Amino acid sequence: MRSQVVIVGGGPSGLLLGQLLHRRGIDAVVLERKTRDYVLGRIRAGVLETGLVRLMEEAGVADRLHAEGFVHAGTQIAYGEDMFHVDFQDLTGSPVVVYGQTEVTRDLYDAREKAGARTEFQVDHVEIHDADSDKPYVTYEQGGKAQRIDCDFVAGCDGFHGVSRKTIPLSVRREYEKLYPFGWLGILSETPPVNDELIYSSSDRGFALCSMRNENLSRYYIQCSLSDHPEDWTDTAFWAELRRRVPAEVADRLVTGPSIEKSIAPLRSFVTEPMRWGRLFLCGDAAHIVPPTGAKGLNTAASDVHYLYHGLVQYYEQNSPEGIDGYSQKALARIWKAERFSWWFSSLLHRYPDQSEFDLKMQRADIAFLRENEAQQRAFAENYVGLPY
Ligand code: FAD
Ligand code: DHB
Repeated sequence: MRSQVVIVGGGPSGLLLGQLLHRRGIDAVVLERKTRDYVLGRIRAGVLETGLVRLMEEAGVADRLHAEGFVHAGTQIAYGEDMFHVDFQDLTGSPVVVYGQTEVTRDLYDAREKAGARTEFQVDHVEIHDADSDKPYVTYEQGGKAQRIDCDFVAGCDGFHGVSRKTIPLSVRREYEKLYPFGWLGILSETPPVNDELIYSSSDRGFALCSMRNENLSRYYIQCSLSDHPEDWTDTAFWAELRRRVPAEVADRLVTGPSIEKSIAPLRSFVTEPMRWGRLFLCGDAAHIVPPTGAKGLNTAASDVHYLYHGLVQYYEQNSPEGIDGYSQKALARIWKAERFSWWFSSLLHRYPDQSEFDLKMQRADIAFLRENEAQQRAFAENYVGLPY
């Protein structure tokens, strides 16, 4: 079997890259370890930067996003009983769109199916061979049968635990990591959102985030201990803790109900360099992870896709390797800035176990400065809506 590009991983980065390439007549097969329903069952990111919205448009899959997504011109930041608004639209001319990663993925799977593009599900033992040669190939097993696909390029879009990153020899690969001493406990509930904009809240008891998916579907998160398990948290305990971590007037408006999903995510900053080895390119979580504060995970995956897509189009349409040769450097330049923003915004709002009284004062001063200083708000807004690419 042969394909111009083999995409390992059918999450948002693999699917978006596949769809964009397909529309330019470049054939790409997607190999996904799980089933489509499993991938769609994972509740993850919810905020899309304009750059990702534009890519969805270019991929021809933005109709539902435009019809059902919520355009948010700003966000609320709360600390203790105080709360203030940062107006992205005023400060940057750009809003963000609240539309779940699950829906992005569903739209892309539907489009792939409609276009007759090949996705292989439930593949095991994917291995990338000869990526540092002109003739790479990928092997895998499906239903107990061994398969092989020869290709020009491999896109490693298989997330943090995938095989692609590990294919790059340790002598070439350099990894940077920071682990945070807490996690996020998230729930999804069929209740109306407490506010029309997201609320990022810093409290003495830890961080909380009020988000949403639609008029009757809310997503809430609270900072939790790394040793907690979702089943330790009853819905009643979750709602009580959330109420304590947001201003009283928000807590009073909160509509609670049974959770339909509950999970804990650890927080991590991670970058691997380079993002290219020969004819293998890493995209999205395969190459980098951010803590979720600031909603950059899915959006950084999208900027990688943008650079790789344009590099591959340049290669096939203009016979020029310039785009793919510059891929790692360009992608990493933007990634490190998103890493910085996510790290900074996380440190602004969370309680750290070893935080001193002085550290707390610094945190409060940082929040107060953001509240009062327009230049700081503009810098925050520019990062939140997404740096240009
Ligand atoms: P993934 O979504 O991880 O997709 C990779 C795909 O590759 C998966 O479908 C996987 O099954 C498949 N795969 C893995 N290994 C193999 C293999 N060997 N062979 C074939 N296929 C393979 N970001 C935010 O902005 N906000 C959030 O609230 C948020 N919450 C998150 C919660 C969790 C629990 C996690 C893990 C991430 C969260 N993120 C969040 C990050 C965001 O969801 C990711 O950045 C985004 O999913 C990256 O997309 P991706 O396609 O690169 O990787
Ligand atoms: C969501 C997640 C985030 O990490 C964030 O910063 C904003 C929203 C969400 O899941 O809705």
